Amino acid sequence: MKKVLILVLLALLFCGCEKSLDKKLQELGYSEEEILKISELNEEHQALFLEGFDETALKYIKDMAFDEEKFEEYLKYDGKLEQSLLMRLINDGILNDKNAEKLFKMYSSENFIAKNENLYLQYLDSYDSLEEMMEIVNTKRYEALFSDIEPVDMSKGDLILVNKYYQLSEDYVPDDLVDIDPSLGRGQIRGKVYEAYLKLLEDARALGYNLYVVSAFRSFAYQDGLYNKYLRSDPQEVVDTYSARPGHSEHQTGMAMDVTVPGYSLDDFGTTDAAKWLNENCCHYGFIIRYPADKTDITGYIEEPWHIRYLGVETAEDVYARKMTYDEYYACFVE
Ligand code: DAL
Ligand code: ZN
Repeated sequence: MKKVLILVLLALLFCGCEKSLDKKLQELGYSEEEILKISELNEEHQALFLEGFDETALKYIKDMAFDEEKFEEYLKYDGKLEQSLLMRLINDGILNDKNAEKLFKMYSSENFIAKNENLYLQYLDSYDSLEEMMEIVNTKRYEALFSDIEPVDMSKGDLILVNKYYQLSEDYVPDDLVDIDPSLGRGQIRGKVYEAYLKLLEDARALGYNLYVVSAFRSFAYQDGLYNKYLRSDPQEVVDTYSARPGHSEHQTGMAMDVTVPGYSLDDFGTTDAAKWLNENCCHYGFIIRYPADKTDITGYIEEPWHIRYLGVETAEDVYARKMTYDEYYACFVE
């Protein structure tokens, strides 16, 4: 009898506590559904909700991804990132005190590309700065050169990227090549690129810059011959700084040209006023200087003030305004 009485008393006491939690929560304005969720938590966490109506804590316990063991961490970093991302990073043990600031910056960077997320995380501490790491990942330079070559994504049309990582097929030849007027230079180029170039040339000539084309479209086989010719006089790591391997040259796209002015070899063109004008103005005709001086670590090639690449006016102007290489621009805005 005594035992039964004790049990009844204990049961009453227990119910009383339950009731008082529910009641307190009700008074604070929590809904029934919310109260149910709160009552599933341990006492320490329940206490959080008893201090007042806590919208912040509430949004986490209502989330499907909620893991009570990580509750303190959600709250600690609340508002730093979008909720589902924050919870995923915490649940997966990725975010910690040491890397938190870096991660917040990384996820809010305008250079953040979702498909590269795992690579950023992998290389988070591998470079001097976060910016450098993101730039290197975006332009695939975390791979040893030529170790991970992908075919050029031809669906990008005029905006295709051809570089040390993206290769054109051996048989790719643009189907709209036209002959360059022999008085203006040598070779063939895509029709629309030629039209754009003629406009550029007209304005250049009006200023006294008599540009002419030294090299335009080059087939895979031609580039192969050229590259191998260079290999006879320079070691491969040197050749790779100034000549593209076959399939890796923009010249095969029919959208790149090497230009200079009379009396100047390509190597000297950079010293001319014409080169300065070309650098500052070619974007208005749809071209970019593809291999700028201060970006050789990104492009993988030494400065080539003579090599222009057609992208169309809108993109060329945007690339120029952003002071980006096309490798970076493609990763951020085209791919
Ligand atoms: N000189 C440039 C990189 C080419 O060979 O296409
Ligand atoms: Zn070139």
